[in-house]
Amino acid sequence: MGTIFTMQHIITFLIPLPLLFFLFRIISNRRSSNKLKLPPGPYPWPIIGNILQIGIKNPHITFAEMAKVHGPLISLRIGQRILIVGSSSIAASEILKTHDHALSGRDVSILLRNKEPTFHNMNLVFTSECDDGWRYLRNIYKTELLSGVVLESRANIRESKVLEMVKYLTSKEGEDIIIKDVMFVTAMNILGNATLSIDLVDYEGNGVGAGIMDTVRRLVMIVAKPQLADMFPVLGEWDLQGWYKQVMHIIEHELGAIWVDSIQRKRDDRSSSSSKDFVDVLIEKGFTNRQINPVMEELFAAGTETTSLTIEWFVAELLKNQQVLKKTRDEVMKHINGDIVHESDLVRLPYLDACFKETLRLHPAGPLLIPRKATQTCEVMGYTIPKDSQILVNVWAINRDLSMWDDPLTFKPGRFIESNLSYKGNDFGYLPFGSGRRMCPGETMASKVILLTIANLILNFDWFVPDNVNPMEINMEEEMDIAMYKKEPLHVIFKLNKRFAN
Ligand code: HEM
Repeated sequence: MGTIFTMQHIITFLIPLPLLFFLFRIISNRRSSNKLKLPPGPYPWPIIGNILQIGIKNPHITFAEMAKVHGPLISLRIGQRILIVGSSSIAASEILKTHDHALSGRDVSILLRNKEPTFHNMNLVFTSECDDGWRYLRNIYKTELLSGVVLESRANIRESKVLEMVKYLTSKEGEDIIIKDVMFVTAMNILGNATLSIDLVDYEGNGVGAGIMDTVRRLVMIVAKPQLADMFPVLGEWDLQGWYKQVMHIIEHELGAIWVDSIQRKRDDRSSSSSKDFVDVLIEKGFTNRQINPVMEELFAAGTETTSLTIEWFVAELLKNQQVLKKTRDEVMKHINGDIVHESDLVRLPYLDACFKETLRLHPAGPLLIPRKATQTCEVMGYTIPKDSQILVNVWAINRDLSMWDDPLTFKPGRFIESNLSYKGNDFGYLPFGSGRRMCPGETMASKVILLTIANLILNFDWFVPDNVNPMEINMEEEMDIAMYKKEPLHVIFKLNKRFAN
């Protein structure tokens, strides 16, 4: 007798089993959530949900369009998962204030949570619940790196890094500069000095952190990619897209390799540190290298791209709005006598501050904040938000809401002179740094660095757009992964201000 079941029989029989199981889990999952009173939203396709309607390009714009049809709180399906998007100041206040406790989990990929449980509490964004470990670490960030007092004590470092940037641009006077790349180096070295007391990379791209710009960008892009394992939890830990491997390789090997020697030198030579930087503090607190690595990776990923892309938008808006640029220049020239703007001078530049706020209004670096997760089921605006739903707040849409802002699409910094609106997380119509427990802890540092940079660029240079492009014609198209970039990098020519030219 020959074999009754050939290999082909076995394959034909076995393959549909997991598929049937998969479909059964998805359908039973849908049935149970159909009983809930979820916020309204576009009709989901079977199995894939609303994935195709959302698309991959500029989801903040798609969600804003959906909100116009379905209201300020909508629900969608991403595969098996429920996604909630809030798009009005009331929805933001309900999510980030009233229900902050239940809705301030982070949506950490199941792959990272399950395959690398030791990463929990190793940095803030990879910590899915605001537990004691998260609180401990966030407190260290606040008190040892990002508090007003610590920032004050290191103002001279930021000023010297901005001065180096001005010197570099002076050496490139009249040349075509991609502003964001230059600003990335400045932001990188400001953070490098605050954390490790070193420059990571110079303006020619050399140094221990050479290539870090691409690595950080690659990491952000990979982390932003939707994961099948997250969309379809029935897949368990199958990393079908190789996501986990790539993320771990970048964090542990590529980024880790940049600072491993500097950290080791610190461990070997504890005596020579006269003034302590952030890594000195972490070592003193007993952090191992494996613990320092995700902290550094988070600070650099969260703090450098956001800062440099905001400066790029800021310069683009000022160039496009020449009257506003002239007004900022008049303010700077009136109040600054020396050849550098110090951080202590910034209080005398209220119009520049208003321009910064207006830039953040139109171009928030995180238009959907960083995805959150419901750690408990709760009720928002009369609808059920089930546990484990992913939560987004569309601050981009709120910042352009006609019912809140007069002429919302126009760059009008004056609106911030007339109002007391701040980005400290208490005005739910204006949240470029988020709000609640998960609000950006780097907001004070970012605003100091950005204002100091722009003020010094204004003081030292006249700005031009290359190739005789009319500044009014600068392309302001956006492109988003987690952060919102200017799609076409901004090119600028800097010429020394007459006051400094000899
Ligand atoms: C223009 C610059 C920046 C912008 C627009 C920005 C914006 C944001 C936003 C929107 C969030 C999410 C808040 C929420 O979910 O409510 C966030 C989180 C975060 N930001 Fe920033 N940020 C900037 C600069 C920085 C800097 C300079 C650092 C540190 C050096 C930093 C560190 C962080 C960290 C660690 C988190 C995660 C907090 C947590 O999950 O508990 N950011 N940022």
